[in-house]
Amino acid sequence: MPDTPAKTQRLSADDAGIARAAELLRAGRQVAFPTETVYGLGADATQDDAVAGIYAAKDRPQFNPLIVHLPDVDAARALVEWPEAAGRVAAAHWPGPISLVLPLRAGARVSKLVTAGLDTLAVRVPAHPVARALLRATGRPVAAPSANRSGRISPTWADHVLHTLDGRIAAVLEGGASEVGLESTILGLAGAPMLLRPGAVSADALAATLGGPVAARAEDAAISAPGQTTSHYAPDASLRLEATAWRPGEARLGFGPVDCDLNLSKAGDLREAAANLFAHLHALDAGGPQTIAVSPIPQTGLGAAINDRLARAAAPR
Ligand code: TXA
Ligand code: MG
Repeated sequence: MPDTPAKTQRLSADDAGIARAAELLRAGRQVAFPTETVYGLGADATQDDAVAGIYAAKDRPQFNPLIVHLPDVDAARALVEWPEAAGRVAAAHWPGPISLVLPLRAGARVSKLVTAGLDTLAVRVPAHPVARALLRATGRPVAAPSANRSGRISPTWADHVLHTLDGRIAAVLEGGASEVGLESTILGLAGAPMLLRPGAVSADALAATLGGPVAARAEDAAISAPGQTTSHYAPDASLRLEATAWRPGEARLGFGPVDCDLNLSKAGDLREAAANLFAHLHALDAGGPQTIAVSPIPQTGLGAAINDRLARAAAPR
């Protein structure tokens, strides 16, 4: 599916531009849009392939979980469980530059590529009027990391976005400068309140809102240390990677033209494989095998991200 557009459309943030951007998002394309923190690279969070397209455009080496953007509190509550603390923070700080990590609601229609297979989901109601208009017009939850190539700085202007993503995404909606310029505060509320990433809404402000302390934890320590699998999805089965021949009793996760139980991509398409990865692992694991064997995945392009996730899922625990 390499349908990368030759040129990225610049859309002005008027009714027509916003309608076009919403149409592209619903069609599964990737569209950058302004928020008050940084420009986000959006995709329909319900479509695996659309979300995989974010990783492909960014050349992101790891599947970090993504923040889902919503037009209002009710839309957020449809996707996550909503403890009283969430209500307080939302009342005080939404719309605005803070994301909340909450338990994913059973049956919520969100791609597993958004949560990286976790049972929690980060949600945010941004304040930028263009973002809000776009989210209302799209009518879908929109997953959006910062709209830059991996390893580059976050964009606060449409021109920044085009600097690293021109030709790699369908469009950018031009909405002037992002006021905050720093990614949102991330507050974990799946258990005791925990600051997962500092941002414009400070820990002190949150403590005041919640009427109690907010523990601090470095974002990177929490979710990206290799082998620290507790906060990452890992199957109950053990994984055997780089399997070039199957052994008796294994569940067989293939890639390319191989005989197997489920195939990440028969055609050997890495984007399709990324889109299928978490769903296929879950499906095979549900059968209760002792081992899931996985075909070798090339280390090129999105393959690096797929192998990173597989290595984490296979890490001893
Ligand atoms: O300001 C922002 O938040 C911007 C704009 C576009 O809204 N977005 C953004 O996304 O910064 P990103 O992908 O750069 O940051 C997402 C981070 C992840 O790296 C992870 O730290 C955290 O959010 N995160 C997302 N879901 C999580 C979860 N279920 N549990 C823990 N952390 C999570
Ligand atoms: Mg970023």
